[in-house]
Amino acid sequence: MMANSLYSLFLLLGILSFLAPVLGQDQSEFTSIDCGLPENSNYTEKSTGINYISDANFIDSGVSKTVSPQDKTTHQQYFTYLRSFPNGTRNCYRINVVTSATRYLIRTSFLYGNYDGLNKLPQFDIYLGVHFWDTVKFTNSSLSKNYEIIHTPSLDYIHICMVNKGTGTPFISVIEMRILNNATYTTKKPSTSLALFRRYKDDPYDRIWEPYWDNKWTQLSSRLGNDDLIQNDFKPPAVVMETAATPRNVTASLDFNWEIDDETEHQYYFYLHFAELQKLGANQTRSFNTTINDVTWNAALQLKYHKVHTRNTLTGPWLLTKRGHISLIRTQSSTLPPIINALEIYFAKDFSELETQKNDVDAVTNIKRAYRMDSRNWEGDPCAPIAYKWQGVECSSFDGFLRITSLNLSSSGLTGHIPADISKLTMLKSLDLSDNGLSGNIPSFLAQMQSLEYLNLANNNLSGSISNELLQKQSDGQLSLSVGQNPNLCASTSCNQQTNDTRKKNNNATITVVASIAGILLLLVIVEAVIIFRLKKQYASTTIFGKRRNSMKGSQLESKQRQYSFNEVVKMTNNFDKILGRGGFGKVYHGFIEDIQVAVKMLSLSSVQGYQQFVAEVKLLMRVYHRNLTSLIGYCNEKTNIGLIYEYMANGNLDEHLSGKNDKEKSLNWEDRLRIALDAAQGLEYLHNGCKPPIIHRDVKCSNILLNEKFHAKLADFGLSKCFAADSDTHVSTIVAGTPGYLDPEYVFNTLILIIRLINGRNSCADT
Ligand SMILES: *[C@@H]1O[C@H](CO)[C@@H](O)[C@H](O)[C@H]1NC(C)=O
Ligand SMILES: *[C@@H]1O[C@H](CO)[C@@H](O)[C@H](O)[C@H]1NC(C)=O
Ligand SMILES: *[C@@H]1O[C@H](CO)[C@@H](O)[C@H](O)[C@H]1NC(C)=O
Ligand SMILES: *[C@@H]1O[C@H](CO)[C@@H](O)[C@H](O)[C@H]1NC(C)=O
Ligand SMILES: *[C@@H]1O[C@H](CO)[C@@H](O)[C@H](O)[C@H]1NC(C)=O
Ligand SMILES: *[C@@H]1O[C@H](CO)[C@@H](O)[C@H](O)[C@H]1NC(C)=O
Ligand SMILES: *[C@@H]1O[C@H](CO)[C@@H](O)[C@H](O)[C@H]1NC(C)=O
Ligand SMILES: *[C@@H]1O[C@H](CO)[C@@H](O)[C@H](O)[C@H]1NC(C)=O
Ligand SMILES: *[C@@H]1O[C@H](CO)[C@@H](O)[C@H](O)[C@H]1NC(C)=O
Ligand SMILES: *[C@@H]1O[C@H](CO)[C@@H](O)[C@H](O)[C@H]1NC(C)=O
Repeated sequence: MMANSLYSLFLLLGILSFLAPVLGQDQSEFTSIDCGLPENSNYTEKSTGINYISDANFIDSGVSKTVSPQDKTTHQQYFTYLRSFPNGTRNCYRINVVTSATRYLIRTSFLYGNYDGLNKLPQFDIYLGVHFWDTVKFTNSSLSKNYEIIHTPSLDYIHICMVNKGTGTPFISVIEMRILNNATYTTKKPSTSLALFRRYKDDPYDRIWEPYWDNKWTQLSSRLGNDDLIQNDFKPPAVVMETAATPRNVTASLDFNWEIDDETEHQYYFYLHFAELQKLGANQTRSFNTTINDVTWNAALQLKYHKVHTRNTLTGPWLLTKRGHISLIRTQSSTLPPIINALEIYFAKDFSELETQKNDVDAVTNIKRAYRMDSRNWEGDPCAPIAYKWQGVECSSFDGFLRITSLNLSSSGLTGHIPADISKLTMLKSLDLSDNGLSGNIPSFLAQMQSLEYLNLANNNLSGSISNELLQKQSDGQLSLSVGQNPNLCASTSCNQQTNDTRKKNNNATITVVASIAGILLLLVIVEAVIIFRLKKQYASTTIFGKRRNSMKGSQLESKQRQYSFNEVVKMTNNFDKILGRGGFGKVYHGFIEDIQVAVKMLSLSSVQGYQQFVAEVKLLMRVYHRNLTSLIGYCNEKTNIGLIYEYMANGNLDEHLSGKNDKEKSLNWEDRLRIALDAAQGLEYLHNGCKPPIIHRDVKCSNILLNEKFHAKLADFGLSKCFAADSDTHVSTIVAGTPGYLDPEYVFNTLILIIRLINGRNSCADT
């Protein structure tokens, strides 16, 4: 009986040394995972006595399937179930029951068995961690494939990933890991044998020995028990060694040939196992040379009866390209032809890709769990290989590892608190959590993160206040911070001390929204949003900070100075090309700052009462941000050219929509109107209660309620009345005479009642 099939395998370089023999299998060193097996179940495979467990603890994705009934009956039990991965490009097991720095034989097995009823053989790639392992290909639905690798994990887990190449849905049937005697099996992996059976209980490494045969050969055999065999450190089991191949033609050589798929040079390692099975007579000798690709490997070998000899590549690998050829050639003096009992062939794979540092992996894995980021296909190593790195993660290499430098979870539907694990990403430079539903406070660790340069928390539901440390970093220019559109977040430094105070004092400010719907089929839908603000308190004066405001539009505007030169404004507006509107203060032009649309309001000089005041007030206004207030992005203050740059509101002002002045196509429905009323009310509420000192709008009217592309309303022109003469056609009369922009500390303000009445159809709006 003869055997050999050549596996494309890999091995690590290493030096063999010799350890005490291990007898029998010690299953405590085996990890045997039946992929797709229902959670918590396990069983003992009859043919090997090995216990298999479910894969449920090692993977979150994929679906359990079973092979066809015929394949179920004709294969081992571990091929019955499999896990299939219809979704995502890369799906990974994270096997966390490994010991680092220990040499493992890792085997993955695949039996298609027409599990999906499509009868179409898939083809896909498998990766070990960040390293390409092999391409899984099938020739027959009922034939299983094994891929084996010898690997010494550097961490206490490994990833095994299936990668969809667009040629069928990846799946996997079995994952097995065997601890190899780390000194003995230094650089090799089993692949071939001369035996009939595949696996043997007395193989301490649970190698799979494939039968191999050539018609030019004849078989030698001798019944051997383990006790009869004089072992060496490779411990090929007796059942493997008790058969051997020898050429029929006594003078011929014994040959193995194989193709090497690609053109590159591979490092090959060979382990040829021999044991003499015949009692040689006095006049008989068996001695032979070995050549690899016609180069003599080592000189004549003489075997001893029932004693295992392994001819191996101790001195280093053979570098082969295109083809491999092993030849055992009888020496002149030998009376008998060469024999061979078993053979292992390996080639080395380059596993030098960098992996992500463990702390970063752990942190980001916890974040994934906390946020249930399943939809993102976050699988395997976060940073590598680059083609499959996690969406929203950017990395750089430091000290031989990849480190996460940027995490973008913008618009990911996140809820709950900002997780503490982010603090463990110590190389993080950029963190974008904008456009989610995050709630709770802004955690203090964010200010401690040394590398953090960009932090975007805009458009969440965060509450509390921003720590002084963060604001300090921001004003020092170390951090670009965006916190806009968090309705419950107090944005200014003053609230750190005074939020509670202010809130309490303002508790008597009430918001009442009365909605009434008149008529079922009707023409008339009236929303009355009644907002009553009572501000009776005296406020302590607070310093006005000249800090740069953070744009709600992201980083692009962030790095810019807030003050723009007139030249820049000219460029921005394309020489005041497009007029958006006209107001009492001046004309409003359309413009762009780095692809972002803006509205530039140029003020007539006469409306500005004083530069110093202007600058102070503008700086204050740039710190006010709320999702229902138009953001002031910057300003221009150059001699007579004074301008304010606002975010652009795509759908103009409410007045146009209600009056039909601009022939806007879209007529507002009930829902829009209610929302607009609430938006406006919330903007006002924020000006009054969320800002310190409070800001009184003084000029609430439909033309100052602007609509964005989604018809969300934002108030415009708030707070300008202090420095600027009032707009001419003011609907709401100012109760306070003089300069009531934001509330003067000494000022005792009366009640302002605002009613917005939105009437379906073309009709007028605000009246007080
Ligand atoms: C196998 O399942 C049994 C119960 O069915 C359980 O007691 C045992 O702990 C399981 N063994 C393993 C290794 O999971
Ligand atoms: C695959 O994605 C679809 C749609 O997103 C989902 O319904 C299905 O449950 C997913 N399947 C798995 C195995 O995750
Ligand atoms: C697949 O293998 C089975 C069993 O080895 C065999 O009966 C069948 O004919 C093969 N099918 C094809 C398409 O080769
Ligand atoms: C081999 O493994 C043992 C424990 O499994 C460990 O103590 C020893 O250091 C390892 N030897 C080498 C050379 O890695
Ligand atoms: C046996 O092998 C030798 C050397 O390869 C060859 O010359 C001879 O023809 C072979 N004999 C037969 C019967 O094939
Ligand atoms: C070897 O010796 C045996 C007897 O011991 C004899 O029968 C045989 O012919 C000899 N063979 C050769 C090749 O000399
Ligand atoms: C076998 O190897 C020895 C030593 O390297 C050499 O002298 C001899 O010629 C070789 N024999 C054959 C048949 O290649
Ligand atoms: C985060 O991703 C979103 C798109 O999902 C993108 O608009 C935004 O600019 C990204 N943020 C950063 C800081 O790159
Ligand atoms: C926002 O948070 C507040 C508590 O701070 C909560 O009452 C409210 O429901 C949250 N809103 C959303 C949309 O989650
Ligand atoms: C606000 O006041 C409440 C009790 O009135 C207190 O528990 C809380 O810690 C205070 N928060 C701040 C930020 O001072």
